[in-house]
Amino acid sequence: MQHRVAAIGGDGIGPEIVAAGKDVLDAAGERFGFDIAWTDFDIGADRYLATGDLLTEEDIRGLSKFNAIYFGAIGDDRVKPGILEKGILLAIRFHFDQFINLRPIKLLDGVATPLANKGPQDIDFVVVRENTEDFYVGIGSRFAGRREQKTLDVVRDIYSVRFGLDVETDAEELAYQIGVVTREGAERAIRYAFDLAAAREKKLTSVDKANVLSDVYGLWRDVFTDVAAGYPDVKTEFNFVDAVTMWFVKNPEWFDVVVTPNMFGDIITDLGAMIQGGLGLAPGGNINPNGTSMFEPIHGSAPKYRGLDVANPLATVWAGSMLLDHIGEHEAAAAVLRAIERSILDGFVTRDMGGAKKTSEVGRYLATLVKTV
Ligand code: IPM
Ligand code: MN
Repeated sequence: MQHRVAAIGGDGIGPEIVAAGKDVLDAAGERFGFDIAWTDFDIGADRYLATGDLLTEEDIRGLSKFNAIYFGAIGDDRVKPGILEKGILLAIRFHFDQFINLRPIKLLDGVATPLANKGPQDIDFVVVRENTEDFYVGIGSRFAGRREQKTLDVVRDIYSVRFGLDVETDAEELAYQIGVVTREGAERAIRYAFDLAAAREKKLTSVDKANVLSDVYGLWRDVFTDVAAGYPDVKTEFNFVDAVTMWFVKNPEWFDVVVTPNMFGDIITDLGAMIQGGLGLAPGGNINPNGTSMFEPIHGSAPKYRGLDVANPLATVWAGSMLLDHIGEHEAAAAVLRAIERSILDGFVTRDMGGAKKTSEVGRYLATLVKTV
């Protein structure tokens, strides 16, 4: 059996951690009887600085031939923040309509959590982050009053409704950004989360801020309630995002599946990463069940460690395990996760986890382990 997978190392430590991850996935393939044909895409800061290209039509055409992309990280000191993130990472998520951002929050055996008195049995849930709407849609503007000659209706509204001002005479500098929730967009994410919960502990928490942002998240809640009617076996609850940050810390064992709009999902999964041992151990999948999905560590490119072979590859390897699950290699996916756990218990880890091993050494160790574990 052969799988064709696209790989984007990207910037900073990205190429090193993806190289380690590929070795582990290839080794898993040898054991479980499949072969991965990798196609590397040169996308990232170096190319952008040389050519000005972020994500080209040709990149998109190329990537669309795959149903899985293995992605390292994007971001570089030499480029203004936001350009690469929006122009490449978010562009891929949006272009391929990867409407689910699946982020497991799971404390592996042998990993230290900053939460006192909590162990692997307490920290094991999944965040389903809606991945194409909310404040990420990129509709917004900075308005510098008459200097910019903008007469957007929405700016008039903001002036008159909010401040009782007249945009023509009282113009001052302001900016706005719009969050969008559509019934269709919310429903497909919420339905995915219900299906996942139904296959797990049958408990689903919706995280929002409907008490204040009541238009967008009021619609989100209505959709959640409508979808819930089709899943009578799944226990549901609503939590506000501010409160849920407390409960993640105090009672992580309450959670099984959490579904949330894009922006809150971004924030609470960094908190989730920390309780499962840090960003070095947090993977994610950007999923379009019928299209091109992308698997990546949720951490960034750590440019200052570029080329030093010190970055922790475990989040990327774990993302590789999610990729294997996605392409139907479930046994191999489980073995990769077991190999990660074994390497941690053996203390064969990088500096950030208290070890002394190099990125490439951990990759090779996992590649050996995955053949037997
Ligand atoms: C993430 C990142 C991205 C996001 C950035 C880099 C655009 O923080 O994957 O969580 O906000 O989604
Ligand atoms: Mn983030």
